[in-house]
Amino acid sequence: MQATDLKSRTMTEQLKSLWQERYRTQLPEALLESPVSQSAVFDALLAHRSVRGYLPDALPEGTIEAAIAAAQSAATSSNLQCWSVVAVEDPKRRQRFAELCGNQAHIATAPVFLVWLADLSRLQRLATRAGHPHEALDYTETLLIAAIDTALAAQNAVTALEATGLGTVYIGGLRNHPEKIAEELALPQGCFGLFGLCVGYPDKTRAASVKPRLPQQAVLHRERYDLGSEADAIVLYDGLDADFQNEQGLPPRRWSETMVSRIATRDGLHGRDTMLASLKALGFPVK
Ligand SMILES: Cc1cc2nc3c(=O)[nH]c(=O)nc-3n(C[C@H](O)[C@H](O)[C@H](O)COP(=O)(O)O)c2cc1C
Repeated sequence: MQATDLKSRTMTEQLKSLWQERYRTQLPEALLESPVSQSAVFDALLAHRSVRGYLPDALPEGTIEAAIAAAQSAATSSNLQCWSVVAVEDPKRRQRFAELCGNQAHIATAPVFLVWLADLSRLQRLATRAGHPHEALDYTETLLIAAIDTALAAQNAVTALEATGLGTVYIGGLRNHPEKIAEELALPQGCFGLFGLCVGYPDKTRAASVKPRLPQQAVLHRERYDLGSEADAIVLYDGLDADFQNEQGLPPRRWSETMVSRIATRDGLHGRDTMLASLKALGFPVK
């Protein structure tokens, strides 16, 4: 067998295995036709799993800067670039963030905690220095822009970090106490902590597994939104998720029931139902 044949067979096997882990079904043959499925980036994306067990080892010099270069390479609405990030490495401060974010121990163990900020303050300062108004910053649309851009940037950083074997986990718990987070980071008005990101070397004794996702029939529509196969897809996914929970030694559950109870009342927001007031207090009028 030629070396190139062997390489392509190995790539196909790898792809089949990644697909199997993500969807727990066989790889559709059509996927093999697409060059999109034949890259190391694609493999790294499909292999994603959140890591909550870290070694205390420091990251190599330059890792944060490289991750931020990946983040800044993401598209940004109208090139507004309205996000910032604070890298927190001080162990005592990470411990404080762990507590503020709902006692999440991994924030204290991972060597780096990146706090991703929707940041309209820079544009505000720019306008003020130029003696111009900045009315557009007061509107919901601009807040959405900042949140979208921040998420796209952070995910680019995650992809770059994971591609080198580092682990990450997003921390939405950062929004449990927005004002306290702003105080802890000395944020100016117009700057809001959207989410955190733990970064570090995964502790292999607490290996994380790939979590299955909804079948594509539930999320991919063609030409028009089509509810045709949604119910079946969810029944299927309830089964896959139950298997995953079982394999991980987690409590049995039905994904659909868990989601329904999570959204039933504002209790599911874990105290974050006051977000609008926090945004206003931190300099986002949200008109
Ligand atoms: C914006 C955002 C916030 C999240 N917040 C937390 C968090 O506070 N704590 C945590 O352990 N995981 C958090 N996660 C991770 C999700 O629980 C995880 O991505 C999801 O269960 C799917 O698992 P996977 O990432 O391993 O595929 C968050 C994920 C996102 C995208």
